Amino acid sequence: MSCFISLEGGEGSGKTTAAARIKAELEAMGHEVVQTREPGGIEIAEQIRSVILDLANTGMDARTEALLYAAARRQHLVEKIVPALNAGKIVLCDRFIDSSLAYQGHARGLGVDEVYAINRFAVDSYLPDVTLFFDVSPETGLGRIEKDETREINRLDIESLKFHHEVREGYRLLIERFPKRIRVVDAEQGLEEVSRAAMKIIDSYL
Ligand code: TMP
Repeated sequence: MSCFISLEGGEGSGKTTAAARIKAELEAMGHEVVQTREPGGIEIAEQIRSVILDLANTGMDARTEALLYAAARRQHLVEKIVPALNAGKIVLCDRFIDSSLAYQGHARGLGVDEVYAINRFAVDSYLPDVTLFFDVSPETGLGRIEKDETREINRLDIESLKFHHEVREGYRLLIERFPKRIRVVDAEQGLEEVSRAAMKIIDSYL
């Protein structure tokens, strides 16, 4: 059975750690799983990712940023996500359209409806079947990142604490707007508990 699952959250929410565990558990249950991420997941989109997140690109205009994320998403969708769904696989995607709505639409102030409009052009009618939102305070999330020496620090990580609070507020508005699709995981817990809570939701969905 094909299923499109996206994982969303602020920095240091534990979603990437959870993704690896979820993939392993779904495979143990006999599912074929494609784990991927945005921006990126395929060569062209990874190239766009390095432009967007380059620490040197501080002069990037907010609309340019939103368009680049949407462009990367389009290529990723047609080249990887749609073929996997058509082959009956489960797609586990670390970030998708809601990241653009929360970060560019709300936190950058471009407007959620405006950013949704360019993303609808990018994704046609494809939306995740279920989205897990890993809810963590920016203080906890950024604290986790600081301790993780293996993690790359990117252009959005170094935004102000206020920006990260706006991102969380953006996600809160999206939960109100898409209550059926977006499910909340309490990501203040330890990473082990976070992964378990996420798997429980996916299990009940499947
Ligand atoms: P990552 O740290 O989860 O790999 O994501 C890279 C950064 O890009 C993260 O700060 C969130 C941001 N982002 C957006 O602002 N808009 C988007 O559409 C996506 C996919 C990511």
